[in-house]
Amino acid sequence: MRVLIEQSYEALSRKAAQIVQEQITAKPDSVLGLATGSTPLGLYAELIRLFKVGEIDFSKVVSYNLDEYFPIKKSNEQSYDFFMRKNFFDHVNISKKFIPDGEASNYSAECAAYEKKIADSEIDLQILGIGNNGHIGFNEPSNFFEEKTHYVQLDESTIQANARFFAHESDVPRHAITMGIGTIMRAKKILLLASGATKAEIIHELLNGKISPKNPSSVLKLHRDVTVIIDRDASLPFLFEERF
Ligand code: PGA
Repeated sequence: MRVLIEQSYEALSRKAAQIVQEQITAKPDSVLGLATGSTPLGLYAELIRLFKVGEIDFSKVVSYNLDEYFPIKKSNEQSYDFFMRKNFFDHVNISKKFIPDGEASNYSAECAAYEKKIADSEIDLQILGIGNNGHIGFNEPSNFFEEKTHYVQLDESTIQANARFFAHESDVPRHAITMGIGTIMRAKKILLLASGATKAEIIHELLNGKISPKNPSSVLKLHRDVTVIIDRDASLPFLFEERF
């Protein structure tokens, strides 16, 4: 696991965009795994800028998003489908993009179909955020690592963390469809981003704690190609002082 500490959120976003750009330059038909949440917003903004100045071309790129609330209408501004269109897809020339279908009539069938689509394709670079509870995608702390794309009940802490995007906490969906830990771990490369002081504790736990499904992100230590980019605020002071 490679850890990069950047001075600011903007620098973190630029570094992440550079890694995505290098990936697409090396393999124009790359398959990307994409994430929602506030953390990757700067990355998407920088990728859009690079696209507009002609420094990146997504025309052969395919993407798979990590997760989606369930059930949720794509027209709902809080759906991840809406988020991705607004913050990225509507501004670039990406070829094909997939997100678990929050409008599917049967979530079990949707999970199986989504898992199969990804397995047929193979993700080259997976972008991840991290929840305060260590979740990646919506793989919440548990007694075991869930392997495949599955339907999940959201943790109370996730509902509270995501309530900031909704008018009322009671509006936050209680369930979601998420790629599994196995789905994520099959990606060839993984890029995890964490910004801000609220992430410092879980980042410390990720870097220093043991591998346990109680902290789903800890499984990433078993992957052969993970880059973690954190900003100054997400790095613990002693870690920061060692590096600068
Ligand atoms: P955030 O969410 O980027 O909004 O902090 C991260 C996550 O929950 O995975």
